[in-house]
Amino acid sequence: MRTIRDIPQFENIPILVRVAMNVPLEQGRVVNDYRLRRAIPTIQYLSERGARVVLLSHIGEEGTETLAPVYEALKKLIPRVSFFPETIGPRAREAVRSLLPGHILVLENLRRDTREQLNDETFARELAALGDVFVEDSFDTCHRRHASIVGIPKFLPSYAGLLVEEEVRELQKALRPESPSLAVIGGAKFSTKEAVLTTLLKTYDHVFVGGALANDFLKAAGHQVGKSLVSDQDTDSIQRLLGNPQLALPIDALVVPGDVVGTPNEQTSARVASVDAIHPDESIRDQGPGTDALLASLAAQAKSILWNGPLGKYESGFVGATDAFAAATARSAAHSVVGGGDTVASIETLGLLSKFSFVSTGGGAMLDFLAKGTLPGIEALDAHPIA
Ligand code: 3PG
Repeated sequence: MRTIRDIPQFENIPILVRVAMNVPLEQGRVVNDYRLRRAIPTIQYLSERGARVVLLSHIGEEGTETLAPVYEALKKLIPRVSFFPETIGPRAREAVRSLLPGHILVLENLRRDTREQLNDETFARELAALGDVFVEDSFDTCHRRHASIVGIPKFLPSYAGLLVEEEVRELQKALRPESPSLAVIGGAKFSTKEAVLTTLLKTYDHVFVGGALANDFLKAAGHQVGKSLVSDQDTDSIQRLLGNPQLALPIDALVVPGDVVGTPNEQTSARVASVDAIHPDESIRDQGPGTDALLASLAAQAKSILWNGPLGKYESGFVGATDAFAAATARSAAHSVVGGGDTVASIETLGLLSKFSFVSTGGGAMLDFLAKGTLPGIEALDAHPIA
């Protein structure tokens, strides 16, 4: 993979960098700058060499957000940054043209233009016209076939940034774990996890399925899951995976009366139930203490741990199992690789970031990379011949 170390010239060259600035905002302020901190080494590398650095990113799913608050957070991390509230067009071109060597410009949210997600070729061409070189450093979006990810590299010599290089190296290593090895996949939606589970079951000694994803497996294994969240059941695929002796599931759960929607303060009515004793009118919200202990013991024995996805309904405050496993992994001497928004949030909140061997900035991108060994945004870097 060509990286920014292979770029032949920097001084005064406009370099477009696709970065991960899709960070959480609350009341117009960035509440977690982890991704921004991880973007700094590449930006600094290019800026120190005199490039005119143009940062492209999306924020939010719909394109309604602005990157202005992200710029405010970024300028606390790196000097010589400015923001222009448009993405393409004559005024954006002028903002890039007047950028001084070593200076950094943040352009507005790519998704403000609906052509970004449609991978529209004209839009990609207009973006590419802003620079002479393209750098892909947004590993978190490399699984998306969007104009800024797979379109721009058709028109410009393209290179991987330092973050993408590190993500690829570390996740490739995670696909060759040392035994005894433990993979933990949480979150929801079986359809987005089937491929990675299939791959991990070939290489890991224990593959634990947690979070809402476990509900699908528990149901397919014949347990009552009441009104818990379940995916559209692809029963054949789940049965096929259930047949693997390495696959492990929760043995108990924290359940509440009611359905998936939940009610305020429902924590107070939660009870621990064995997976054989969940009532038809109850919903699973988190794992139970027996499952936490089982996972902690697997983590203590493991030499390699790979983890993506929360183990309970994290966003509604059911953080117990996720936090417990974060702490167990931090205590373990294993090589630990972790990713996914809520998973990383748990580790950061507990102050455990430094205890992990590698923390991926990817959620879905990490899972897809593990499943396929590459991603569209990485393959696209070879689209344009290098002179
Ligand atoms: C992420 O946060 O996982 C990436 O930035 C991708 O965002 P998206 O799901 O809005 O494409």
